[in-house]
Amino acid sequence: MGMQTQVAIIGGGPSGLLMSQILQLNGIDNVILERQTRDYVLGRVRAGIIEQGTIDLLRSADVADRMNRDGLVHEGIDIAFAGERQRVDLHKYSGGKTVMVYGQTEITEDLYEARDKMVGKILHEVSDVELHEVTSQNPYVTFKHENQEKRLDCQFIAGCDGFHGVSRATFPCSILKTYERVYPFAWLGLLSETPPISDELIYVNHKNGFALCSMRSETRSRYYLQVPVGTDVNDWPDERFWEELKVRLPDQTANELITGPSIENAVAPLRSFVAEPLSHGRLFLVGDAGHIVPPTGAKGLNLAASDVYYLSRALLEFFQSGDETALKGYSNRALQRIWKAVRFSWWMTLMLHKFPDDGEFGEKIQQTELEYLFSSEAALSVLAENYVGLPLD
Ligand code: APR
Ligand code: PHB
Repeated sequence: MGMQTQVAIIGGGPSGLLMSQILQLNGIDNVILERQTRDYVLGRVRAGIIEQGTIDLLRSADVADRMNRDGLVHEGIDIAFAGERQRVDLHKYSGGKTVMVYGQTEITEDLYEARDKMVGKILHEVSDVELHEVTSQNPYVTFKHENQEKRLDCQFIAGCDGFHGVSRATFPCSILKTYERVYPFAWLGLLSETPPISDELIYVNHKNGFALCSMRSETRSRYYLQVPVGTDVNDWPDERFWEELKVRLPDQTANELITGPSIENAVAPLRSFVAEPLSHGRLFLVGDAGHIVPPTGAKGLNLAASDVYYLSRALLEFFQSGDETALKGYSNRALQRIWKAVRFSWWMTLMLHKFPDDGEFGEKIQQTELEYLFSSEAALSVLAENYVGLPLD
């Protein structure tokens, strides 16, 4: 069975949904093909810090009502090391910028709701997605849906199908170069219906390993512990998690921790990954399909949003004027910003985690890095400018 659209979007995670929303608002027809069910996509718990550029994009895409109401504006973060907790005034050191705490799961829900309202076309539980003729003017996608073989003809394909998707795999090896670092540890996350320990996030450097105190709302907290790769969540009942978190927090802060039963816990590995280029003919990679950052800098969703911003603008330009210049420039333009976020996330990861093979010299350098950070307005400005998000030019 044949269908036709202007832009085929592979993957209905945050990247694909936001791309679809923006394109449709601008009168560009599109269809999302998603492998999973909607409930599965909505069940994934991920990071929760959004930059001003992402906020602006969600607002302009008409999906920001709940975020405007429930999102928590944060003007700073705390970093704890050597038993002390110190504040980074993001607002002051970034020249007046802030970030917002609003969960990716919430953003995904809001996007689905917005897509429903506009009767956006999303096919769930598709399988065997294959991309064809992507270097021609008339690419097409074949897939299985409801036990039928289907074909979707299009002018462009947005590969929004995450790290394990089919889009990047469609690039010939000869044109694709990938850069990767896998870190020798993972994060164990716990979500609980308890008030957050503090008004702001606390990033913790401790000899047992990194910890992070985050939140989803005034009544819901999100905590993370650095754990070895291959850790089984079942080895971490709630009591053990809370106990270890308290060990890693400065004493006074640990006393303020309110614990409760977990509602979600999972182990996630840490990786930095970039694919170059992000386009091949009329196929464009967006979000996790093209790059992965470790969660330490909270950049994953924000990078997905900036990719969507650049690509949607380039597609609009093409459909309005027939000019392909911006589309041809998409890969370079997106990659410039991506690499800066990759560098920042790598640096935050290095500064805050315990590296098993670091040795005493490495530990001294790490402590000195943290001491230097809080002794230098220049260093604080570097952190703040990156944390709140580099400009979307
Ligand atoms: N066919 C169709 N859909 C697919 C396929 C495929 N072959 N492979 C993967 N998908 C779907 C997945 O089921 C998933 O819903 O593509 C979607 C990709 O979504 P994400 O992995 O969430 O990636 P993205 O939308 O780019 O979101 C980036 O996710 O990991 C975080 O930190 C990251 O916040 C960032 C965000
Ligand atoms: C989160 O709340 O899940 C979160 C916040 C900040 C990070 C990573 C994760 O750096």
